[in-house]
Amino acid sequence: MTVTIAEHECEQQEKGYAMTGYEPIETVSKDELAAVQLERMKATLAHSYANVDHYRAAFDAAGVSPSDLESLEDLANFPFLVKEDLRKHYPFGMFAVPRSDVVRVHASSGTTGQPTVVGYTRDDVDMWATVMARSIFAAGGRPGDIAHVAYGYGLFTGGLGAHYGAEKLGCTVVPMSGGQTAKQVQLISDFKPRVILVTPSYCLNLIDEMESAGLDPAKSSLEVGIFGAEPWTDGLREEIEARLGIDAVDIYGLSEVIGPGVAQECVETKDGLTVWEDHFYPEVIDPETGDVLPDGEFGELVFTSLTKVAMPVIRYRTRDLTRILPGTARTMRRIERISGRSDDMLIIRGVNVFPSQVEEHVLAVDGLSPHFQIVVDRSANLASLSINVEPTPTAQRPTSELAEELQRRIKDHIGVSAAIQVVPVGEVPRSQGKAQRVIDQ
Ligand code: DLL
Repeated sequence: MTVTIAEHECEQQEKGYAMTGYEPIETVSKDELAAVQLERMKATLAHSYANVDHYRAAFDAAGVSPSDLESLEDLANFPFLVKEDLRKHYPFGMFAVPRSDVVRVHASSGTTGQPTVVGYTRDDVDMWATVMARSIFAAGGRPGDIAHVAYGYGLFTGGLGAHYGAEKLGCTVVPMSGGQTAKQVQLISDFKPRVILVTPSYCLNLIDEMESAGLDPAKSSLEVGIFGAEPWTDGLREEIEARLGIDAVDIYGLSEVIGPGVAQECVETKDGLTVWEDHFYPEVIDPETGDVLPDGEFGELVFTSLTKVAMPVIRYRTRDLTRILPGTARTMRRIERISGRSDDMLIIRGVNVFPSQVEEHVLAVDGLSPHFQIVVDRSANLASLSINVEPTPTAQRPTSELAEELQRRIKDHIGVSAAIQVVPVGEVPRSQGKAQRVIDQ
């Protein structure tokens, strides 16, 4: 059942809560939140130990039992879960309920071999819709809005996750999915959505298509963009906000944990992503030692689900790199924008390079567009880096000057030498979903 914002507001005021979020829990005191988390964490550990062979064996091997957890910090004594564990139990071995209680599965593509399968009970689907409704609300979406969903539908969690959340919030959903760029632009122009949910790289493609169709993107009906599923930068946020005339905010999630809606940037602060901590408990660890790092320190993000029934995850290592920050717009803590995945990091002549760092510098050069691709050539002894990048269609500066400036910035700020090719507009392959930023030769 969907409630209108007015009804929701009334209900919360009656309960004595300020109308800051979609749900009262977003703004309860830290102590209240911690109490909810502890109770749920205990239940999740017990449920996982009782019903999933993998957890029983892993806890036993580590000499821990669910009853050992007395505080949230005690979680650090429990073993991690890694993607390889999920692969080992392909397809349904990590389920904690009979298969017949699972109403939905999704799967992550996986670059090699087996996909990773995740399952949801009816309650899990409802919890997911709720955290997505919270996310869309935090981004500035409201009941009654038209929401254009351009995340892919199917085994990928983006489309259906956004869809159920937007419906739950009370939006009119346009389930466009990815691809058919010209048609997307036509529907945006005809249906006049206020909210769009899409990867940032595919959004660029949509903006270009609007321009080639003779439309002014800044005059579109869109006011709110909810962008995620891949790393992006504040530079790209500025570019998209300026060209499309919207507020662009970041959404984070991964299929193993639930899908999109694990964390969401609030439009009123645009200062990193609030983790919906009453459902997903975050830790940041040193990726080398596995030690839990204090909030504020940079490392690998780890999640424990607190309410998931079909496939609870305990201390799942995401490989995403970030740090935990205190709450601002909500009580719940934030994560800084994900800078990259540890497995996306390129090591070029001993220097660590993330594609998002390259994006930052491409966008800092006046006259370069955000359409770029990084090519790593490993045929010689030492890997070398080259970047193919397009100028903006209106760039006035000579391409040699653009290339030199980018090369200098990358050398000065990242510390590597890169060969830059400024290629004709339209030459860099356009994203249809998650962008492929790196070609590793
Ligand atoms: O990408 C879920 C999603 C869909 C999130 C739509 C947001 C919007 P997976 O395909 O399992 O799930 O990929 C998860 O994508 O571990 C990150 O490496 C990356 N990722 C997701 N959101 C962000 C983000 C979906 N906002 C993997 N910033 C994650 C950076 C992100 N990386």
